[in-house]
Amino acid sequence: MQTIKSLPVIPLADAEFWQNPYPLLAELRAKHRAAVNDQGTIVPLHWDDCEWTIKGTDFINEGIEFLERRGFNEGDALHTWRKHALGVMEGPDHLRVRRLVSGALSKRSIEPLRPLIRKQAHAILDMFADKGEIEAFRYYSMYLPRLVMMEFLGVEKDELSGSEKAMAGGNIVDCFGPRVTNEMRKNANRCIQDAMDHVAMLYEKRRAQPQDDLLTQLLTAETEEGKLNHGELITLFSTIFGSGASTGSTLAAGLLELTQNPEQAERLRKEPERWKKGACEEVLRMRPAIYAIGQKAARAQKAFGLSFAAGQSLSVILGAPNRDPARWQDPERFDITRDPALWSLSLGIGPHFCIGQAIARSTIEEGLAVFVQRCHELEFKEPPRWVPYVAENKLESLQLVFKPAAAGGG
Ligand code: HEM
Repeated sequence: MQTIKSLPVIPLADAEFWQNPYPLLAELRAKHRAAVNDQGTIVPLHWDDCEWTIKGTDFINEGIEFLERRGFNEGDALHTWRKHALGVMEGPDHLRVRRLVSGALSKRSIEPLRPLIRKQAHAILDMFADKGEIEAFRYYSMYLPRLVMMEFLGVEKDELSGSEKAMAGGNIVDCFGPRVTNEMRKNANRCIQDAMDHVAMLYEKRRAQPQDDLLTQLLTAETEEGKLNHGELITLFSTIFGSGASTGSTLAAGLLELTQNPEQAERLRKEPERWKKGACEEVLRMRPAIYAIGQKAARAQKAFGLSFAAGQSLSVILGAPNRDPARWQDPERFDITRDPALWSLSLGIGPHFCIGQAIARSTIEEGLAVFVQRCHELEFKEPPRWVPYVAENKLESLQLVFKPAAAGGG
């Protein structure tokens, strides 16, 4: 039996690690079954172990203690918000809320949105075609999912921008990452409180005047197991709305890969219907937006040749299993022709599997296909850099130059 002291260390505190973590993860995975991050949390490295960990019941999602380790306490606004999130729930409560939200989301079908996603993507690119250059992280990748989410949720534009404004000042997602400062905590608590107040006001409006939108559907959703309580309603709506950012990060990563791999971009350009699914799954695999899934041992046990105490935490860094050669041939190669049915762990798996996967996938598929159709001979204007110490992998910016092509087709 190994001990934690004998494991190799993953240096999360090193800013350069975040620029390209994959070579180190590959090197460690080739020699070891598990590593430890520099905060003392065990990190399994192989596909089989990681899939088993997330999917099964021997390890479960970390609860609110995950945020408490980052300095948020009972009474803090972010603590209150997170306590009601699906991600920290287990058992009957998790099932109840998941069933209610799945029901409300499935009423808002994704497939009819595809022509609209393409139309919006073209409309954005129309604004940049003359220039032949775009800062594609902010003005395409983050903007397109926002437009799509607005359509999908069926909520008024000015109502959503109130929530956006409230969230803008604090980097809430990165408060789940490995380095959280006092200033981040202060800002995040202030912003999430403003956002929660704003969402509560929107629910009040819908109570008085129901509409055909997600807010009303969540308010009225009911099963035999009950309804959503006030805290759950607030957290759910802001989670669903805020998750467009993960779609945006993945879309930007896809544009980066297609710029680095012009032959793959050409393939997608020539036959978008044939390859867009493969392109989306390959970006999800190679560039997981969520950097790691936090788990804990459901009871004292042995796993990966190590002993775990009950409740001991574990971090599945998705970049390790997603590039395991035991599952994918030549895994460091970006290849949109791989079988898209061979799933990665980027949308989770098992009881907490991503609820927004359908809308995320359609936005990424259509967003990538339209971009390469409109923008040929893609090149970086500046070498892209990744933001370090994040909970969600994202580029600082993505400055691209290209040869504009006519809109044509859908
Ligand atoms: C490419 C974009 C996205 C990525 C990479 C992503 C990733 C993930 C992952 C990894 C999980 C599982 C987390 C865990 O096991 O702890 C998850 C759960 C979740 N996702 Fe997504 N997501 C994306 C888009 C979305 C969208 C657009 C929505 C909303 C419409 C959404 C809503 C949720 C919710 C509510 C959960 C919690 C499910 C539960 O705990 O039962 N996600 N997502």
